Amino acid sequence: MSSLQAIEQIIAQHTQLHFDNRAALEAALTQSIVEQLSQAIIDDGKASIAVSGGSTPKALFAALSQTDIDWSKVDVTLVDERWVETDSDQSNERMLRECFLINHAAAANFIGMKSAHDDVADGVIDYNKQLATQIKQPFDVVILGMGGDGHTASWFPDAPEIDCALDATGNSSTLSTLPPSQPMPRITLSYPCVAAAKQLYLHITGDDKLQVLENGLSTNDALPIHRTLSQSKQAVNIYWAS
Ligand code: 6PG
Repeated sequence: MSSLQAIEQIIAQHTQLHFDNRAALEAALTQSIVEQLSQAIIDDGKASIAVSGGSTPKALFAALSQTDIDWSKVDVTLVDERWVETDSDQSNERMLRECFLINHAAAANFIGMKSAHDDVADGVIDYNKQLATQIKQPFDVVILGMGGDGHTASWFPDAPEIDCALDATGNSSTLSTLPPSQPMPRITLSYPCVAAAKQLYLHITGDDKLQVLENGLSTNDALPIHRTLSQSKQAVNIYWAS
C-alpha cells in the first residue's frame, strides 16, 4: 500500500475539518461541544467532558467558558496531567483554572488528576475512584491534542507503558506513564476510557502538526497518534487550522 493510500484509509474512518484560521476553528468547535453537552443535560440530567492540556486549547477554553449552558450540571476533568503541584506553570489543572473554569464555566464540577500523594501510582488509585464515582461515564465529549512527537493524551512514543495505555481491551481507565523524554511522570486516561466517549475530537493547529499527523499516518504505525486513529472504531473529529 502506498503512503497516500495508508493515510486515506485511516482518515476515511474519521471526519477531518480544516479551517482557514484558528478563530473559525474555535468558534465551530465551541458550538459543537456546547450542543453535545446541552443535549446530554437534556437526555441524562448531566454531562461530562475530558480535555487535554498544553497550549493549543487555551483560546477554545476561553470561548467555552463564556457559553451560557448550565455548567453546574457538567463534570469537567483532564485527559492527562503532569505530576507536578497544581500551582506549577507545568500543571494542566492550573491552566484549566486560569483559562476554562472561569466566567460561566466556573460553576462546573471539576475533578483534577493531581492529588497530594508523593507517588503517582497512588494518585492513579485515587483518581480512578473519583472517575468511577464522581464523573459521568462514558464521557459525552473528549478532546485530544497532539504533540510534535506524535503523542496524544500522555501516550508518549517512548513511554514503557505505551502498549498498556493503548490496549483497546485493557480494563484500567487511568494509568501513569513515565516517558524518559519527559521531565516528570504523567497521569493519563487510557485508550479504552477515551474511546468510549460519545464524541471524540482531535484538536491540532499549525502546519508542523498537520505534517506530523500525515507523516505519522503514512509511515509510522508505531506512533501513538497512528495507533489511536487506526484502532478507533468510532469516528474521531479531527479539527485543524494553520
Ligand atoms: C499535555 C497534554 C498533551 C497535549 C499535547 C499538545 O499535558 O502535554 O495534554 O497531550 O495535548 O502535548 O500540546 P500543545 O498544545 O502544547 O502543543
